[in-house]
Amino acid sequence: MGVYIVMGVSGSGKTTIGKLLAKKLNLTFYDADDFHPPENVEKMKSGRPLQDEDRKGWLAVLAENIQKWDKNGGAVLACSALKEKYRKQLTSVPEEDLNWIFLWADFEVILERLKVRKGHYFKPEMLTSQFETLEEPDYGLRINVNTSEGNILKEIMAKLKAPEAEIGLIGLGVMGKSLALNLLSKNINISVFNRHVPGQEEDIAKNFVQENAEKYTFQGFDYLKEFVSSLNRPRKILLMVNAGTAVDTVIESLLPFLEKDDIITDGGNSHYKDTLRREKTLKEQGIHFIGCGISGGEEGALKGPSIMPGGSLEAYKQIGPILEKIAAKDKTGNPCCTHIGPDGAGHFIKMLHNGIEYGEMQLISEIYHYLRFYTNTNPEVIADLFEIWNKEKKSYLLEISVDILRKKENEGFLIDKILDAAKQKGTGGWSTNAALELGVPLDTITASVLARNISGMKEVRVEASNLYKNTNNQNGNLEEIKDELFQAYETASLINHAIGYDLLRVASSEYNWNLNLSEISRVWTNGCIIRSGLMEDLVNIFKDSNNHLLLNKNIISEIKGNQASLVKTVGVSLQAGFAVPVLSAAANYLLNFTSSQNSANMVQAQRDYFGAHTYERTDKPRGEFFHTQWKNNS
Ligand code: 6PG
Repeated sequence: MGVYIVMGVSGSGKTTIGKLLAKKLNLTFYDADDFHPPENVEKMKSGRPLQDEDRKGWLAVLAENIQKWDKNGGAVLACSALKEKYRKQLTSVPEEDLNWIFLWADFEVILERLKVRKGHYFKPEMLTSQFETLEEPDYGLRINVNTSEGNILKEIMAKLKAPEAEIGLIGLGVMGKSLALNLLSKNINISVFNRHVPGQEEDIAKNFVQENAEKYTFQGFDYLKEFVSSLNRPRKILLMVNAGTAVDTVIESLLPFLEKDDIITDGGNSHYKDTLRREKTLKEQGIHFIGCGISGGEEGALKGPSIMPGGSLEAYKQIGPILEKIAAKDKTGNPCCTHIGPDGAGHFIKMLHNGIEYGEMQLISEIYHYLRFYTNTNPEVIADLFEIWNKEKKSYLLEISVDILRKKENEGFLIDKILDAAKQKGTGGWSTNAALELGVPLDTITASVLARNISGMKEVRVEASNLYKNTNNQNGNLEEIKDELFQAYETASLINHAIGYDLLRVASSEYNWNLNLSEISRVWTNGCIIRSGLMEDLVNIFKDSNNHLLLNKNIISEIKGNQASLVKTVGVSLQAGFAVPVLSAAANYLLNFTSSQNSANMVQAQRDYFGAHTYERTDKPRGEFFHTQWKNNS
């Protein structure tokens, strides 16, 4: 960024404008007067003008400092520097690193200013000598100061083309572009970057700038050094690139241009362990790393996503206000964005958000499928039913399912043309892996991941269906089952959330994240894919206690009223020949969770039998372990 020297005669406003400029550029301000040796100060106080001899040492000290400041990222210096030879002495760094800003006005204007100025050791009579000494530079910026401070600063910034962008965004895919437009619509000054890959990704950033030039002014780059130089300090860079090695590659190429305290924010669906690693490595280099979950798809990114940033609080204080501006708002108008916790917390939360999302999606899908083929119901009628359910549930996923079921293509329904092989990018399975590592049951979420896996075995399923000749019962009656089905749906959804939040609680204590489940729920009340009426309730429920959701007294009474419907629905659908993995996982979880006695005593006995793994006894305190010689007992 370099050093900015604001020069001019005394009274031209060097200090005031210099300070404002420093603030704007996020640089430290220095006043050259503070570097005068005491004898020079005395001389000026007594009204005797300084001679070149007096200035020599002072200018040398300043030149040294200019070098130091330039190395440390830049500074703003207010210094009269009236003669060319003084300026030459100050030019101790390459020319491109030194920005001269000459503040000028007519003698009378400056004289008037000095007359009203108090407490300054400069006597107005000395102004004449200053004007005589002044050799105006024919380089740098020439700024007339006979106007307001605001106007002066504006003119300097415009002429300097100084780095002004508050945030830089890397990666102009669908999400990146939408977030960029969201930032611009909130009057946030941005720069964008997209890599240049000949024949594949050419001029993406420049074209994006051009496409939006009528509405917004911003800069686009395909050269990283220039992109970074366009950002003000500390640099805030938002990565919107594919999760995985691409994130490491971009960070590697950015590092040579970054400085201490710059902040990289990864807005992709990165694995939280990668985020833990990146945060740690970058911290050692003085760079902040924010792992930031962003939910809401393309529309959310454009109009207001739910944002889940994790990393140091210090870095959040810098980047948080920008993220909060572009985030969705909750029902009280607060941003659906908060500092989730340190290091990997933000990406863990986003992963689990997606885990719950997988569970809810599969739940709705299996209910649709069951209704469609067991009761032979037309998609439009199912859409109408879902619409009624959603008056109560207010679930975004149920809402979009209504639209999906109503979508026609030619005379048929589009849903019938879509291949039943679900894809996934990993976050659901990562949630299961995390649960396995932490020893947490994650039944519904895992069932939904596995349902996607088996859906992908399309060809084998077709073959197996021919071999087994399984036929579905298609004689179900919609009117008879719909109320129970609704109760089964809402119970399974509740259990799916309870299971997800349980993993959050355990991860929070394992990683010392101190997660605030109520705040996380609030961030999920708008903008994200799993927003719903239930999420609004969870904000309050977790305000009182972080306990397992199924232990909450209001939830207990709701579940108790609906459990029979869930179990019956699972039984009927299985008997009728319809797989309902998430509904049945929810029913099983609930039964297991609410049973004081289950089958694990037998497992323990088997383990002890073949491997002497020992077991605890019901008639002895927990923590005491026993082994039995099983064969001798027989
Ligand atoms: C969101 C979504 C999003 C995710 C898609 C696709 O919160 O906006 O979760 O982040 O990428 O849902 O995920 P899958 O391809 O794994 O289904």
